[in-house]
Amino acid sequence: MEIQFSVLSSQFSAFSFQISARRFALRSFAAAGMATLLLVAGCRQDMQDQPKMMPQRGSEMFADHRGARPQVLNTVGRDQLHEDSYFYTGVVQGANGYRQELNVMPFPVTMEVLKRGQERFNIYCTPCHSRVGNGLGEIVQRGYKPAANLHDQVRLSQPISHYFYVMSHGYGAMPDYSAQLAPADRWAVAAYIRALQLSQAATPQDVPAGVPVESLKNIAAQQGHAEFAEPWALPATAIQAYPHIASEGTPGMAPANPADPAIKIPASKPAPAAAK
Ligand code: HEC
Repeated sequence: MEIQFSVLSSQFSAFSFQISARRFALRSFAAAGMATLLLVAGCRQDMQDQPKMMPQRGSEMFADHRGARPQVLNTVGRDQLHEDSYFYTGVVQGANGYRQELNVMPFPVTMEVLKRGQERFNIYCTPCHSRVGNGLGEIVQRGYKPAANLHDQVRLSQPISHYFYVMSHGYGAMPDYSAQLAPADRWAVAAYIRALQLSQAATPQDVPAGVPVESLKNIAAQQGHAEFAEPWALPATAIQAYPHIASEGTPGMAPANPADPAIKIPASKPAPAAAK
């Protein structure tokens, strides 16, 4: 009887142990889950509050309370070593101390460079200067200030590094293209402008003897577009925001039709001269 009881009791306790083991497993699973949750939340808090610099925020760490630190004096950061300053600026210091532009490329112009320049020019410059560089691109045809004609005497006589400088800093109504064009690309475009200038003023003597040369006029006529060989004019739909003011040197022109009520001329500007 005793034995029986003890067997029974041991069976019973084994059963109850089984139950409590299951409960324990469940509880410890829940506890582990909670702990993980707490841990994760705690982690995030730690990283959130860790000492670090936020852009443009103050900091108690430095005496001047600036989070953004000035560069350590007399150090050169990565990509800051611009030893060839002409390559990066397009100017040298002239004898008089002022910046001076040169008619010199900082690296040899290969066919590859010209092709790259042509591609970049066609992407970034043609909207205003047009593919041939006459300054009457699509945007100008819709009212932007006429861009410089790269074939007029002023532009032809500018040194090549002037083009680099204009691309780097903008010029008058023209924005700068330093963000879009790395220095090497700006030089490639400048070289291509020279090629463009040559191409637009080419004569039959410029091609090797014996190579047949056909005039643009003939080619345009053959293709049924004789007008392509004529000098471009802005279409009558071109609306200029400002009339041509000779004293300001703006190369703009009077609105296509000053009588058109759709064309509003700002009151602060003089009314356009009567169409000549
Ligand atoms: C959004 C239109 C626009 C684009 C795009 C543009 N230009 Fe111009 N550019 C102008 C205008 C307008 C002028 C004349 C500025 C003035 O008179 O205010 C000008 C003037 C110039 C000049 C003459 C500067 C001088 O000293 O006479 C050069 C060279 C030139 N651009 C080169 C470029 C090159 C190269 C690109 C492409 C990287 C380019 N431009 C893209 C509008 C543009």
